[in-house]
Formats: sequence, structure tokens, C-alpha cells
Amino acid sequence: MKQSKDFKRTLITTALPYANGPVHIGHLAGVYVPADIYARYLRMQGRDVVMVGGSDEHGVPITLKAKNEGVTPQDVVDKFHGIIKEAFEDFGITFDVYSRTTTDIHKKTASDFFKTLYDKGEFVEKVTEQYYDEEAKQFLADRYITGTCPSCKSEGAYGDQCESCGTSLNATDLINPKSVISGSKPVIKETKHWYLPLDKHEPFLKKWILEDHKEWKSNVYGQCKSWIDLGLQPRAVSRDLDWGVPVPVDGAEGKVLYVWFDAPIGYISATKELTPDWEKYWKSDDSRMIHFIGKDNIVFHCIVFPSMLKAEGSYILPENVPANEFLNLEGDKISTSRNWAVWLHEYLVDFKDKQDVLRYVLAANAPETKDNDFTWKDFQTRNNSELVAILGNFVNRAVVLTHKYYDGKVPAAGTYTDYDKEALAEIPQIVERVEAALEGFKFREAIREMMNLARLGNKYLADSEPWKIQKTDAERVQTIMSICLQITANLSVLIEPFLPFTAKKMQGMINLSGLVWSDCGKLDLLKEGHEINEPELLFDKIEDETIQIQLDKLEQAKKANEAAAAIATPAKENVSFDDFSKMDIRVGTILEAEKVKKTKKLLKLTVDTGIDQRTVVSGIAEFFKPEDIIGQQVSILVNLAPRIIKGIESQGMILMAEGACGELTFVSPAKSVKPGSEIG
Ligand code: 2FM
Ligand code: ZN
Repeated sequence: MKQSKDFKRTLITTALPYANGPVHIGHLAGVYVPADIYARYLRMQGRDVVMVGGSDEHGVPITLKAKNEGVTPQDVVDKFHGIIKEAFEDFGITFDVYSRTTTDIHKKTASDFFKTLYDKGEFVEKVTEQYYDEEAKQFLADRYITGTCPSCKSEGAYGDQCESCGTSLNATDLINPKSVISGSKPVIKETKHWYLPLDKHEPFLKKWILEDHKEWKSNVYGQCKSWIDLGLQPRAVSRDLDWGVPVPVDGAEGKVLYVWFDAPIGYISATKELTPDWEKYWKSDDSRMIHFIGKDNIVFHCIVFPSMLKAEGSYILPENVPANEFLNLEGDKISTSRNWAVWLHEYLVDFKDKQDVLRYVLAANAPETKDNDFTWKDFQTRNNSELVAILGNFVNRAVVLTHKYYDGKVPAAGTYTDYDKEALAEIPQIVERVEAALEGFKFREAIREMMNLARLGNKYLADSEPWKIQKTDAERVQTIMSICLQITANLSVLIEPFLPFTAKKMQGMINLSGLVWSDCGKLDLLKEGHEINEPELLFDKIEDETIQIQLDKLEQAKKANEAAAAIATPAKENVSFDDFSKMDIRVGTILEAEKVKKTKKLLKLTVDTGIDQRTVVSGIAEFFKPEDIIGQQVSILVNLAPRIIKGIESQGMILMAEGACGELTFVSPAKSVKPGSEIG
């Protein structure tokens, strides 16, 4: 595999997050922490590197969110672009530019890109049939149409997917389709769109990926191979929508570029915004481009965008696409809509100044080869047993003892024993292993190796026990402490790409600055007599109670979801007022209650309905003890035709409300009223 040094410069792109919600740990683990580690590593080597990112501000979900909230799509993206940008800054993600796709520079870049391909005849035009809302006078994107799912029959399925049963759908499959905009029944109408003929690029993609890039991660290579093996189809690059970059050709009124066409061009626009010299990153063979993305973006970055770049003709193609799999949270898929996530801005409120702890845990547990799980317990363990007990403990002891024994001045190295030499020889080897892992985009391995240097220092100090011989062998103690300080100095450089905040603190503590990657492995970073500063704790223990607070938060989110799901059961079909008024619902009072034998759920109730005293069999035994509900006022449907249940004639039905967890409660008047009072 080619190394970073085989190229003159590196362009790192990071997937543009949609600006319709804040960012969470899944984003950080999958894309931004690995990209940032890599960018910092290259910068510390003095390489020419730019890391570009930005917010993806087009697409239907943003327009839907705006509609639901009664604001404009621009309001939505303005809000979330700010939140996202700030979260990245807070976590030390060092973009050289963090832009957005609603800038003029982007609109022009995307529009020109389309026009170039159009003029070169790189698109095919097709007329297809799509749903159209005659009241709103617009074509409807799949998400703008709802209806009954043909598969599970639930209401509210979208034109592209039923969220109840997960089936993917074509909008025309929906039963009783309805426009989300006007509520009217849409009609089918013809519309013209431009397609990128991926089938035409297939032979090129086959060679470029399957033969020339066998070194790509197996999850990425495998996904590309299955797409190619299935046979590539032309893909529409325009949509009928009023939010996005207008299609820049005659006869395209009301059409915009498909969000997945303009978003990757956002990488180009961002680089343009960064530097007038942007072309050297995009258009010269001695530059290489690396796309950091999550697995759901593989097809767009390995197949669609390269086909666009190739068709344009003057751009380089990605050298590697180290896509990650997904990070789950406590065993469940992270979900914005279910609020099942750890939001970055919230994390920093609860764990102030602990950015590096999260960066560490996410990199150490990155979903590199398979989906992985983030658990708060693991977060706590990695903090307490690794960062505190190994790295923090070692550095703290090295600095504290230097102050205690030598008034904060680095002692002379003296003479090394074989044991010392062995320990010191390990340092450059660890550095080499970290480098090799980073060059291969193996961030878990890199951070594990980095931690091995802290382990080495910790073990060396513990084995050498300078505190036991300080009075008897002062010379030996000087050597031990000098070695510990050199390891500390090395650590302060080696950890920088991974734990930048801690690296800064450490370098402040040992009074060093301006260290670069090639300082890693040097054994004389701290000269004899160099004065170090006072110790500061690098990490502190995270207690069980703190973790419990996070678990409780998730539990609450789960409950709220269940409640929302219960509330959100779609409404049944309309009934006429006449139908409704046929139902005779009264307030009744329970006079007697007993369990129905050989059943778990049934109670036999005697109810005073004001009209009579009657027997009703009700499935509420799991929630109420008979003796507790005597005198309870209830709502009862008195004209329901009698039914025999377990041999008992039930004359009516008690109305119950279902809580978030399926528990039943009575529907009763807010204050006591006469039995027989009518409800309606
Ligand atoms: O999946 C997503 O979140 C997309 N917004 C990623 C876009 S990446 C790029 F192409 F801009
Ligand atoms: Zn369904």
C-alpha cells in the first residue's frame, strides 16, 4: 500500500453531516475522530495536508423538518450548522475549513460542475412518471407522500419506506397515497430528469476498484464489489424540489440537483473557500485524496462521485476510502428521531473538559471492521483503568517525583543498565508500530500501541521503585527519573494526534513546546537541568453515580419513545357523527370485583350504570387488585351487544387508557359525578 510520504500533499475529506440535527458519538467515532487523528499525524510530520468538511444543507428531510416546524429550510440549516460546527471545534476536530452547501461559492461550483458534464454529453435525459400534487402545484419527493403500507397495512408509510415494517417501497406502491403538503390525493404526471449513466462507467470502475485498489479495507472493497457485480444502473442527479441548487439548463424550472450530486462537490467548494490554490489539491497527480466516511456513504464515494470526477476529466480520484461501520449505543442502533444517542454538545455539559476521554474511547473502540457498541460502562472502565491508572498515573508520578527529588529539574541520565537499555529500545519500536497502523488507517491499533508507551513507562517506574532507594542509591534514582521523564516527553508527542488536549497539558507540565512527529523516539527531548512545571492531574476517576446519570437519561429516552409510539398510533378511519352518537357511554361506579377463575387477565365487575347494575368482564386483572377498585368511577359503553366471556355474560365495556409501557388506567371523570351521567 502506498504511504503518505509517496505523495506531495494530502486532501482529507470528511462526510458532510446533514444540518437537520446535532452530531452525536456515532459521527465522531465513524468519521471525524479518525480523520482528525490522521490529519494531525500528517501535520506533525510537516506534510502539506488539508482537511475539509462542512454541513450538508440540501435534501428533502431538511425541507420536511422546516415544514413541520413552520420555519424555512434556511432557518433549519442555519441553526444546526452553528451547533455542529461548534461541537466539532469543542472536540478539537481541526478542519482547515468547515463550510456549508448553501454558500454562493458552493452553488456556483456545483452548478458549473453539472453544466460541464451536461455540455460534454455525460448525462442521459429520461422522462418518468411521478406523483404530483395538483393543489400545491409541485412534484412530490418520495418522503412527501404517505399512505398505507402494501406490506403490513400500517398507515403513514412513506413513499420510499414503511417505517413500521421496514419494507422499501416505490411511491406508486402505497395504498391511498396522500400528499404531505396539501393532504390531497396526488396524480401521476410525467417529469424529465438527468441521469448519470453508471452503467457506462462500469468497466472503468471495475478495473479501478476491483483490480487497482485491492488494498482498500475489506468492508469497503466488498461493498463496491457487490454493487458492481449486481450491474450498475443510471442514477438520477436531479429532483423536482424547490430547495437545492437549481439545475442550470433551459427547461429545468422547479428542478434542483439531487443532494447526493451536490454534497460531494461540497468538498471542492470548501477547498476553494480555503485557498485560491485549491486546484493543486484536486487536480495534480502528486496529490492524494482520502475520503473519511461511514459505511452508508460508500457507494456515493467509491462509485458515484468517482464517476462524476472521471466524467469531468480534470480531477484526481480518491486514493483510499477508509469507511467505518456503525457505532451502536448500549446495544441499540443510534437514532436521532428516537433520541437514542449521546449528543456531543450535551456530553460536554456533563463531562466538562473531558473531550479526550471520549476521543480515546471512540478511537479505541472504533467500528473499523464491524459494527461496535458504545456502552457507558466501557467508557468508565477505559477512563478509570487505562487513562487514569496507566497514562495519568505514570505521568503524574514522574512529574511529582522530579519535583520532590530534584526541585523540578531534569536529573542527569548517568549510566544505563541493561534493563534501562531494553526499556529505551522499546520506544522507537512503539513509535514505528503507531506509524504503521496510522498509515494503514488502523486507528484502534494505533491508539493501543500509543498506550503501550504509557504501559511501558508505568511498568518501568513500578519495577524500578526509585522511592525505595532514594536514600541509598541517589545516582541510580537519577537515571530512573531521567528515563521516566524522557518517556513522558515522548508520550506528550505521540499522544498528540489522539489526545490533543492532554498532549497540550502534558507539554505545558514538562515545559516543552513546538514538538514535531520526528521527535517521537528521541531519548534526549529533556536536557539535564531543564525545569519542568508543577504537576496537574491529566484525568480523574469517573464514579458509578456519574455513569448512572447517563444510563438514566437513556432510560428516559426509551420511555419517551414508547410513549410517543403509543400516542403516535395512526388514527383509524373517519366515522360519521351519526355512527359516533350510536355509542352510549356513561359514567359508572364499580360495586363489586372478583377474579375470573382460571384466567390471569380477567376481572368480573358489578357496575352501577345509573340505569341498572350489571356484570362486565374486563381484562384489567394484571393492573388492579379487586379490593382496590371498589367505588372507582369508570367510563362504560353500555350499549355494546352482550358477549359471553369465559361462561359469563359481559354487558358492556369499561374504557381504559394505555400508558407508555402498556399499563392500563381508568378513564374517569375529573370529579365524582352521578352514575349514569352521559359521556359525549
Ligand atoms: O449521510 C450523510 O450524512 C450525508 N450528508 C453525507 C454526505 S457526504 C458528502 F458527499 F458530502
Ligand atoms: Zn409496512
